Amino acid sequence: MNAQKRLRVGILFGGRSGEHEVSLASAASVIRALDPEKFEAVPIGISKDGRWLVGTGAVKMLSDVLKSGERVSLPPDPTSAALVPLAQGAGHPTVSVDVVFPVLHGTFGEDGTVQGLLELAGLPYVGAGVLASAVGMDKDVQKRLFKEAGLPVVPFLVFHRSEWEKNRAKIIDQIKKKFRFPVFVKPATLGSSVGMSRVKAAGEIGSAMDLAAEFGLKIIVERGVNGREIEVSVLGNDEIQASIPGEIVPHREFYDYTAKYLENGTQLMIPAPLTKKQVSIFQDCAVRAFRAIDGAGMARCDFFLERSNGKIYVNELNTIPGFTSISMYPKMWEASGLPYSKLIDRLIELALEIHRQKARTKYSIELPAGAGGALEP
Ligand SMILES: Nc1ncnc2c1ncn2[C@@H]1O[C@H](COP(=O)(O)OP(=O)(O)O)[C@@H](O)[C@H]1O
Ligand SMILES: [Mg+2]
Repeated sequence: MNAQKRLRVGILFGGRSGEHEVSLASAASVIRALDPEKFEAVPIGISKDGRWLVGTGAVKMLSDVLKSGERVSLPPDPTSAALVPLAQGAGHPTVSVDVVFPVLHGTFGEDGTVQGLLELAGLPYVGAGVLASAVGMDKDVQKRLFKEAGLPVVPFLVFHRSEWEKNRAKIIDQIKKKFRFPVFVKPATLGSSVGMSRVKAAGEIGSAMDLAAEFGLKIIVERGVNGREIEVSVLGNDEIQASIPGEIVPHREFYDYTAKYLENGTQLMIPAPLTKKQVSIFQDCAVRAFRAIDGAGMARCDFFLERSNGKIYVNELNTIPGFTSISMYPKMWEASGLPYSKLIDRLIELALEIHRQKARTKYSIELPAGAGGALEP
């Protein structure tokens, strides 16, 4: 392929969420794996305080982009569809990209906000659209859609923070009545196990609710499952594929923030030791969960497999799963016969495909000449 025709892929990384550092690791892996014959990586960093910075010229290392990249913004204007430097003048040309790969985890990246901006700007982007991204970040709405699709989810209750602040005793009572311990208390719209507690007795409910309330407007309380944690990678738009399942075996009480990011010790098993029948149930549920939230491109579907009775529960879908070369999402694809850099090729293809589909859609009707008088003042 002619070098000039290489597709310019904007890699959005960093971001304002607690998963800023994880995003840097994921983005570095994605950039390393992009086939240089086909793609040119344009690193676009988002600092922790939300500034957008582009790496130009020699500034390509991700940490350097965040320190000394050119400050830009992406206007919601589809006729330019380019990053515009904040500084004006000859030395500051606009930066165009053909497709964007948001490698951002958590709030303001995985939750539909960035996807909304990319929609307005008219740029193709990898992964879920606005709706599925937002639903993917909301454990409450997501579970309700799973239920509606006939997928098994653990019993749960949801409380708004304002409700909790007004009726603490009543809510504690409700939780005690509905569940046996342990229960999990979580902020409904966060990831990385932040603000989450495994509650073993009634006396701990209040502090667990207070903690979760610090991290969001909604709190979800779930029955604690004594289960194995199984994950499946999902890929596709209309035709959706599911990978070989993998298993996470945390070395701590549960897969908390420390187990995820601070300590080594969690075991990742690919493939997960499962029967053929279990594998096909997990794969089927993963595809149905993806459809239930209107997913696109990719997602990782996480499950519990209850130890005592073999029951399966869909725990959650992550629309931008960890993407380092040793992360579960790409590893499960690798084990299924799709190597990391081919996976990225495919995700970019899927982004362009769904963009073409959207471009065919009419957003208004053309009025016949002379009509529309009624709209005039
Ligand atoms: N209902 C539950 N029963 C048992 N373990 C749970 C439950 N909910 C969460 N966990 C544990 O907490 C971890 C993180 O919870 P999860 O709902 O996946 O939130 P996050 O979006 O932060 O990953 C899970 O991987 C699991 O180890
Ligand atoms: Mg999780």
